Amino acid sequence: MPVNANLWKHFNRLFEQRSNRPLPPLDADLDYTQLPRSLARSLAVFQLGESGGGTVVSQARASRLDAVDDDYVCALAHFVAEEHRHASILAICVRLLGGELIRTNWTAKLFVLGRRLMGLRLKILVLLAAEVVGLCYYRLIASRLPPCNLRDWLLDIAADEASHLEFHCAFLRSQLRGPVSRFVFLSMWRSLMTVSEVVVLIDHRKALHDLYIDRSDVRAAWRSYRHAVESAVLRSSADFGRASSADCVGTV
Ligand SMILES: [Fe+2]
Ligand SMILES: [Fe+2]
Repeated sequence: MPVNANLWKHFNRLFEQRSNRPLPPLDADLDYTQLPRSLARSLAVFQLGESGGGTVVSQARASRLDAVDDDYVCALAHFVAEEHRHASILAICVRLLGGELIRTNWTAKLFVLGRRLMGLRLKILVLLAAEVVGLCYYRLIASRLPPCNLRDWLLDIAADEASHLEFHCAFLRSQLRGPVSRFVFLSMWRSLMTVSEVVVLIDHRKALHDLYIDRSDVRAAWRSYRHAVESAVLRSSADFGRASSADCVGTV
């Protein structure tokens, strides 16, 4: 039995319990078209990003890594389904904002290309970076919106992302065997976070500007999550299995 078998059972149960949540009703509690148009375009990019990711499940199913068992594969399948639910909610948000969904975008292409080139461990690392990107962004956007359904939906999505973050951290922690793998993780993780930060600041600059979100706010949120992830992944193996959302979930 893998050392983290109980942890995968925990995540499998958690994601399974959430799997029957209905989509929020498509009702506009305020005139969303008054919000900046750039927000619709920005959320459409995130909507596209939340739509993919299914190949990671088949990759995990075929994996021979010790840490991967049936519960992990099932939890991963539930995780992908939750991301698709996020895509559906974001599609509602984009429409309420008067925007159009998109089918392609350079950042989404970059993300998909990166994932396709990789084995399971690197793919999970990229997914972890995407969780940080989403979590920071949804919370930052929500912090600038008036009380409304759209703000609540973004915060709900961010809460899901926090547990995804924890799930991926647990997997990566199970893959670190010594100082070399820790060094490789840290180098790749920090490079990935740097690239992600630049990409988001460029691709979403208009929405960030229109919602009065300063670049320094984005960077501060980024830094806080980057450190939280590093301490969660690099925690000693003696602490393995005691993960709690408080370890990874920072505040924006
Ligand atoms: Fe998501
Ligand atoms: Fe996620």
